Amino acid sequence: MVQYSNELKEEIRAANDIVDVISQYVTLKRSGRNYFGICPFHREKSPSFSVSPDRQYFHCFGCHKGGDVFTFVSEIEKLSFKETVEFLAERGHVTLPAEQDEGFNEKQYLKDRMYKINLETTLFFHERLYQPLAKIAQNYVKERKLDNATLKAFKIGYSGEYNELYKHLKSKGFKDNEILATGLVNKNDRGEFIDRFRKRLMFPIMTVNGKVVAFGGRRLDNNEKTAKYINSNENLIYSKKQHLFALNLAKQTNDKQIILVEGYMDAISLHQRGIKNVVASLGTALTEEQGRLLRKYSEQVLMSYDSDGAGQEAIMRGLEILGAQGCDARVIQMEGAKDPDEYIIKYGSERFKLLAKNAISLVEFKIKMIRSKYDLENATDKVRFLKEITKVLSKVENNIEREIYIGKVAEQYKISKEAIYVEVNKQTYKNQASKDNIKSRPIHKEEINQEEISESIIKRENMVLYLLINHYEESVIDITSNIVKEDFKLEVNQKIFEAITEAKEKSKDRILQVLSNIEDNELQSQISEIMLSDYEITSVQKCIEDIIINYTKERLNNRKLAIIKELENPSLPREDASMLEVELNNIIIELAKM
Ligand code: UTP
Ligand code: MN
Repeated sequence: MVQYSNELKEEIRAANDIVDVISQYVTLKRSGRNYFGICPFHREKSPSFSVSPDRQYFHCFGCHKGGDVFTFVSEIEKLSFKETVEFLAERGHVTLPAEQDEGFNEKQYLKDRMYKINLETTLFFHERLYQPLAKIAQNYVKERKLDNATLKAFKIGYSGEYNELYKHLKSKGFKDNEILATGLVNKNDRGEFIDRFRKRLMFPIMTVNGKVVAFGGRRLDNNEKTAKYINSNENLIYSKKQHLFALNLAKQTNDKQIILVEGYMDAISLHQRGIKNVVASLGTALTEEQGRLLRKYSEQVLMSYDSDGAGQEAIMRGLEILGAQGCDARVIQMEGAKDPDEYIIKYGSERFKLLAKNAISLVEFKIKMIRSKYDLENATDKVRFLKEITKVLSKVENNIEREIYIGKVAEQYKISKEAIYVEVNKQTYKNQASKDNIKSRPIHKEEINQEEISESIIKRENMVLYLLINHYEESVIDITSNIVKEDFKLEVNQKIFEAITEAKEKSKDRILQVLSNIEDNELQSQISEIMLSDYEITSVQKCIEDIIINYTKERLNNRKLAIIKELENPSLPREDASMLEVELNNIIIELAKM
């Protein structure tokens, strides 16, 4: 039986950030200091699973499982403690001490050697770039306007001829099998060792932590017969779907926003011109794993892909992937250049930053793509265009957001808002019907509303009560003058609200007493949940304001829906209709202002 020392366990723990590890199994979203997601240990619809990066702990408020990174891995991978240690050691590239009787961990040793080879190779290529024989590479670098600081930051290099790298690695004591495992050298039919990358400009690809796992090499001439770039094949330490070029550098900016580009040169070029929160997906379609990585290090991703058709296609899929990860993903629209590298060289970084500021959302991007298919001067086309875009608009779940888009579309394409509403509403019913698998049955508004007593509404209600209970003196006046019992959707919450507002003596202590005296299990369990919830309130005042705005918005929205419904009634007298239209307009303006 092996005993691993506490120091070793600590080293392994340090090499496996819990958020990193759990992100491989669960989609986590950051909220305040912690991350949240759907618990992988029990079935649930809304996230009660939380991970604390500060404490390096996880806990599920639904099934009450919790612990550190070792507990998590052992539970999810169903491993013994020893196996868990080995699993995480391998993942974190920590070498376990050789075990006499258990057999030497050969695989781990090989990986370790591969990392060393990659590092040695990076330095070899990089130094070689500065030698006289690298004239062609030096000229190329100059032509691409790369400065020396950039060459250093990215460890850009120049690969040798024939088998120079192989010979160099051998001289450093690496074995053939180790060198072959990295794919940097291949063995041909005649048993000769030949470098994979020859006379190319070399870009090392690193992990988030700056370990080199692979290389990309660009040809230096215009010979279209050879591939513009060749890259390392996948191997024991490199799986291309899991990496993003330059993430190690972008991460250091601690920016909440990351710009995602397609090519090595795009990332490098922006970086050199002061835009350092940039990573490249390296020409492959963005993968779910890359999406998760992006989500982990940022809150907003701006995609800046090539302006050609393929680039735009790739954006669409990328946006969907990022959206599914809970990223606020947007698109940078670029004209006058084929890619970000060309753009920033031509127009400078200020102009690029302006593009980034005006990046558009998935919905706007989709509408734009649909727009490009139709001729809006043509009446039939215009109808088709309207039908297609309302399909997109009806899927926007947030009412306010949908409102804003409808306003924009109406203005931009000269279509009346009412016409859009009618179509969107039809579409919403359709979506709902197909979701419920009931064909063509009209869905009543009440049913939809019932469906919508969602987690977020409950959370908001609970928050109001939390404020009343825990910050009674500061919140009671604002809350009771803006929110009434009927605003609560949950009956238990109505009762709690009533108990609080009807208490005779008004002080926090007295309120707590009143609540603790209620003899009703359901009520008590709701009260304890509210009191124990971690709402991370930084400003009570701001929180109350937000909630009141929320309720006001909801009232306006309900009124708006009611008006739209009435406007659909064909027998509505014209004067009534125009009055309602005026009211609707005012509501929309008011909502937009919020
Ligand atoms: P691009 O051709 O847009 O790359 O391909 P780039 O970085 O802008 O190249 P330059 O400016 O012409 O030097 C995007 C990415 O697709 C991958 C590379 O990762 C490249 O950066 N790619 C492209 C390949 O792997 N092989 C190729 O032959 C071409
Ligand atoms: Mn380019």
